[in-house]
Amino acid sequence: MPKLIIDDIAVEAAEGVSVLEAAKSVGITIPHFCWHPALGRAGACRVCAVKLLDGPVKGIQMSCMLPAQEGMVVSTTDPEAVALRRQVIEWLMINHPHDCPVCDEGGECQLQDFTIACGHGTRRFVGPKRTHVNQELGPYISHEMNRCIQCYRCVRFYQEYAGGSDFGVMGSAGKVYYGRFESGQLESPFSGNLVDICPTGVFTDKTARFRARYWDYDMAPSVCPGCSVGCNITPVARYRELLKIVARRNDMVNGWFICDRGRFAPKGVNAPSRPRTSLVDGVKTGREEAMDALLRRLGEVAELYGEGSIAVVGSTRLSQEGATLLPLLAESISAGALSYGLSAAESRASSGAISMLTLENGASIADVENADCIAIYESDLREEGPMLLLAVRQAWRRGAPVLLVGENSPLEQVRGVGIEAVQLHYMEEAPLAIFERPVVIAGMRHGDPRVMAVLDRSGARVACLFPGPNGHGAALLCAEHGGIPLEEALAKGKVKGLVAVEADIPAELLAGVPFVASLDWRETAAVQAASVVIPTAAWVECDGTYVNFEGRAQRFSRVMKPGLPIKELDPACHPPRIHQGDPPGGDILPSWQVMIEMIRLAGEKVPDGPFSGSWANLTSLDPEGEGEVIRGRCRRDS
Ligand code: FES
Repeated sequence: MPKLIIDDIAVEAAEGVSVLEAAKSVGITIPHFCWHPALGRAGACRVCAVKLLDGPVKGIQMSCMLPAQEGMVVSTTDPEAVALRRQVIEWLMINHPHDCPVCDEGGECQLQDFTIACGHGTRRFVGPKRTHVNQELGPYISHEMNRCIQCYRCVRFYQEYAGGSDFGVMGSAGKVYYGRFESGQLESPFSGNLVDICPTGVFTDKTARFRARYWDYDMAPSVCPGCSVGCNITPVARYRELLKIVARRNDMVNGWFICDRGRFAPKGVNAPSRPRTSLVDGVKTGREEAMDALLRRLGEVAELYGEGSIAVVGSTRLSQEGATLLPLLAESISAGALSYGLSAAESRASSGAISMLTLENGASIADVENADCIAIYESDLREEGPMLLLAVRQAWRRGAPVLLVGENSPLEQVRGVGIEAVQLHYMEEAPLAIFERPVVIAGMRHGDPRVMAVLDRSGARVACLFPGPNGHGAALLCAEHGGIPLEEALAKGKVKGLVAVEADIPAELLAGVPFVASLDWRETAAVQAASVVIPTAAWVECDGTYVNFEGRAQRFSRVMKPGLPIKELDPACHPPRIHQGDPPGGDILPSWQVMIEMIRLAGEKVPDGPFSGSWANLTSLDPEGEGEVIRGRCRRDS
């Protein structure tokens, strides 16, 4: 580990890092645009100049390109280095439109910050600015090329890191253009990362354009509910409306990036049709009244149809808090069946996965990236876990062969990210034993649970893609409490009363159930069929926990208060004359709190919180931490 001195601070740098990274490790920020922790160095922007006063290298150097070496004495404040950085910023700003007041990046713009930090304030060049024609890049991303400073981050991410081929850089003399050959929607399933990675406002999120400034945002650390990967995100809201999603770094899960589905899809939170008030037979009522009616009617169902005629069903999108309380709710209303999911096939696959996974054989995204061979078994990662596809690409770039096993692993998924792969029919054909760090990514939708035994014996690390953001947590609880899939419970023909907690049940399955109640924040078929509806808080409106595919429990925090978005309020009600704690429509609780209320009303002992017993350690999870791996607790031989 080389020892060097930066601005009079003794630094022990990690092997192979640059002077810029070594400075960063002790809190010294050197201006930079083209360097990015995930993409490395390019030496394109020339703004990271420092002066080497002594040691193996001397004089002005680009700190991102220079490896930290023993004996270096570095000054970031030397007048020569400061003057060069100021000049570089001045060159970059010659053609920049200086349109910060109308630019969506304003307030969260790296160019803005470093321009000010480098002391540039006046454009001395009086000639005309170079201008470009922008492209229409689809419904999600805006393109404003005049703001570009040619740092090459976008194209390095899009082509090298994400394997996209429809976007690139074209240049002629002083005109360097980043875009597509012609206007059209960006094809990469990771294109939204251009918004985060561009250090200025060339690429901005079109879906949230002109809605708020950085200092207006409601933000909190959160976890993506789009699939079981559990990418770390920062949702951005204002006036109780979810505006956009930004990637949040977690090196143990998603690194720096997220997929477009996670970034652009989860705006159902803003749907005007989502349940906002409790309903009994379609008539608006208070929450307590609705709960009373629900318990009364469940009593009637039990009386009419006998013991075991009530079922409680959760889902893989229900937080671990809610899922943990589900058995207590079922007990308090004397339910005969407890379900954590609908499909019997998925349930068998999930149960097989948790019985096979251990702390040693489970794979994280980092394991996928570092694998020397990857087999994708019966899965289309574009659907089941797009960020794993990005991880597979990083392994493939380092030389790992990629095998697609089974008829539900289409070749198109890897072609879309520039990977060449070999197709196999059966898992047994994959020559995993000849590799040192093989990883199998197994889909749960189509996968045969019997293959879990093959995977267990293979010596490979395994990533099982559970359905939904809390599929792994739901499977653990299902095994612990003897849950059965709803399909099976309904097939017996005994269920006449159903309490659905954030469960997406198709209308056909509900057809034979005379009484349905739904606790949900989405307008599902169960909500539409329900005689009693109690709205719950959406994932951005409450704290909660999801257990991701690898068995990592991660806490998400409340981003905004529940309640009607201001734009949906009657203009006569806003601004309110009397300021109050709860906004209109804000009397909504997270599902687990609704369940605790119901348990209390049913006359049963109320738990202090959602987690107790073997789950109590989840109470102290840090939303800004790396999460806690809890897989392996259901291993059959443990
Ligand atoms: Fe060093 Fe761009 S950050 S040249």
